[in-house]
Amino acid sequence: MDNVSVVYATRTRHSKKLADAIGKEFGVEAKNVAEHPEPQKAGLLFLVGGIYAGRSNPALLSYAEKLSASTVGKAVIVTSSASKSHRAQRELRAILEKKDIEIAGELACAGAFLLIRFGRPDKKDMETIAKAAKDISGK
Ligand SMILES: Cc1cc2nc3c(=O)[nH]c(=O)nc-3n(C[C@H](O)[C@H](O)[C@H](O)COP(=O)(O)O)c2cc1C
Repeated sequence: MDNVSVVYATRTRHSKKLADAIGKEFGVEAKNVAEHPEPQKAGLLFLVGGIYAGRSNPALLSYAEKLSASTVGKAVIVTSSASKSHRAQRELRAILEKKDIEIAGELACAGAFLLIRFGRPDKKDMETIAKAAKDISGK
């Protein structure tokens, strides 16, 4: 799939690490939505963000609200969270579905919160997420 883009929102840089690993896999620079608030055209768009009090990072949701099916071919939701039960982003999925943007899949990774999942995401997580991203892209 042509034209892969990777964007992230982050508070403690875990999503940046994951997004950078995914971007490296495709040879593209991962962009922070805080610095690049306007979406660009993408065949496959990875949206990477963490979970706070059970909810998606609001900055990632605001970014998703600006997307459209004419600018994004398919999207992949990538979630970083301490709890396994919080490794899905329901609100983000709902926004993409509302806009008829096809969701190619969801990836998730442990992200430390205080002593829970301390040290994650680690090097192995980065390798795992990059490989999963490649697999999902079909490249
Ligand atoms: C204030 C705060 C609240 C959090 N709430 C949750 C939560 O409800 N569920 C969860 O699984 N992880 C929670 N976490 C852990 C984050 O989702 C995890 O650290 C994630 O990797 C952060 O990603 P980011 O640094 O890219 O924003 C919380 C972290 C913080 C600092």
